[in-house]
Amino acid sequence: MKLLVTGAAGFIGANFVYYELEKHPDDVIVGLDALTYAGNLETLEAALKNPNFKFVKADITDRDAVDSVFEDEQFDIVVNFAAESHVDRSIEDPAIFLRTNILGTQVLLDAARKYKVPRYHQVSTDEVYGDLPLNRPDLLFTEQTPIHTSSPYSASKASSDLLVQAYQRTFGFPATISRCSNNYGPYQFPEKLIPLMIANCLADKPLPVYGEGLNVRDWLYVADHCKAIDLIIREGRVGEVYNIGGHNEMTNIDIVKLIISALDKSESLITYVTDRKGHDLRYAIDPTKITNELGWTPETMFADGIKITIDWYLNNRDWWGNIVSGEYTKYYEKMYGDR
Ligand code: NAD
Ligand code: DAU
Repeated sequence: MKLLVTGAAGFIGANFVYYELEKHPDDVIVGLDALTYAGNLETLEAALKNPNFKFVKADITDRDAVDSVFEDEQFDIVVNFAAESHVDRSIEDPAIFLRTNILGTQVLLDAARKYKVPRYHQVSTDEVYGDLPLNRPDLLFTEQTPIHTSSPYSASKASSDLLVQAYQRTFGFPATISRCSNNYGPYQFPEKLIPLMIANCLADKPLPVYGEGLNVRDWLYVADHCKAIDLIIREGRVGEVYNIGGHNEMTNIDIVKLIISALDKSESLITYVTDRKGHDLRYAIDPTKITNELGWTPETMFADGIKITIDWYLNNRDWWGNIVSGEYTKYYEKMYGDR
């Protein structure tokens, strides 16, 4: 099998490349990435030593560049991870989200059709379902939950899902979509909650908790997301949406306190800051469909996954140290300076 993995130099894309190279050592993977602020070729250093992995620097909105990759390689499967992924950035500047997440997806769909790729997978998010109330723990997102978005990020991701479904219906395009809850693990960019809190704790910097810290996210270890996508692209039914999540709901403040305690720091670092605009209250995935149809279950419990993740950030300070000391400092000042 030959796979195209877009967004391969990002957090989940890179973890997926490593998962596939190990699980299917005979498969060939082409990783494509524009290397935006969130893409880091260092993350793929080990993969680049594998003769079955090749990297192409390209922007998914660049039709000529994308077509030429599809022309050169005959892909059996395309997995699209490439996206602008950070909600706060989408609130500051929505335009790039629409461009990459919607138009970029369209370019990939057109190329996959033109070059008759037998299987396309769109990596989507639970955020397309909007949010759930905090006082209704009985409610979960199913694949039937209506699309109801809150941020420019989630609106752009929902738009790309709708485009994929339109290509399915109109052209008989062979696609699947997955909608996963919040991921955590190695190589996550330090703008996201868990790595940001680890990095700030280690630097004894304030820990900026939005609002009262009571919003709930449903955390899944990244390798379990990769395992689910691997099953969907090989055994999932064309035309279907699969939700992915491991029933692991936690409030933000509990996550922050857990990190503080694991790093033996003081809770006095916690600083409550102005809430995110339009902040989704709670996400919670019902994974019954993928469990029943494909036998997927998560393997890494949160207590283990968070330990692995914290240890990874402790042992790989160069990877994120370079990020937090570079261009990212300007972003951090802008977002948190007088919040
Ligand atoms: P990320 O920001 O870490 O990585 C995104 C990657 O896409 C980066 O390497 C970036 O360089 C690349 N990219 C951005 N624009 C591009 C373009 N125009 N052309 C080519 N490459 C481009 O994001 P992530 O957390 O790894 O998320 C990957 C995918 O999974 C996204 O589609 C996201 O919506 C989805 N998702 C993420 C989570 C999560 O918790 N992180 C959960 C569910 C779904
Ligand atoms: O649910 C899946 C989504 O999870 C993905 O589609 C997105 O790509 C991914 O970024 C993530 O979105 P969130 O907005 O949930 O993740 P983030 O890490 O930005 O924030 C998690 C929670 O923590 C959220 O309620 C906001 C809060 N938060 C975040 C940051 C960065 C803080 O309280 N302080 C912070 O500094």
